[in-house]
Amino acid sequence: MSDRTLIIVKPDGVQRKFVGEIMSRFEKKGFKLVGAKFMQVTEDLASKHYAVHKGKPFFDGVVKYLASSPVMVMVWEADGIIPMARKMMGATFGFNAEPGTIRGDFSCSKGYNLIHGSDSPESAEYEIGLYFSNNELVDYSFADEDWLYGQND
Ligand code: RTP
Ligand code: MG
Repeated sequence: MSDRTLIIVKPDGVQRKFVGEIMSRFEKKGFKLVGAKFMQVTEDLASKHYAVHKGKPFFDGVVKYLASSPVMVMVWEADGIIPMARKMMGATFGFNAEPGTIRGDFSCSKGYNLIHGSDSPESAEYEIGLYFSNNELVDYSFADEDWLYGQND
């Protein structure tokens, strides 16, 4: 099995109708969707999600933000997906994210940055476990995997 990452279209992303756009970018890149859930995150779950930031000045605000309105939670799969997805998301704050990235193209806010993506294999494992049980993640192949992932060496 190749690498997996947890992606969330955050409350502002859902409210601003970016679910389809964001899924489409990942689909076109060749990532494989292996799980998805549209849900309301509780403040308790949001605190677990952002546990690594506990004690920082923005912790309470970011917990409230993630729990403020429904989100689209997804697991995507590809070799090396964690850094690839982070590059496609762009820098943390929309106002200094590069054009061409999701945050750079669609956000000029500081904290409201549309999307979450795991930042390491350890975070991905922890975060996926917060939202999904194993039987909610689907193992399957694309018919065109040779064309998507082919190498010429
Ligand atoms: P995320 O975890 O949501 O994917 O974002 P990230 O890795 O790019 O950024 P991270 O450092 O993990 O911060 C988590 C979220 O907290 C908010 N934040 N606010 N006011 C601040 O200084 C500050 N720093 C971070 C952002 O909403 C960020 O996405
Ligand atoms: Mg983070």
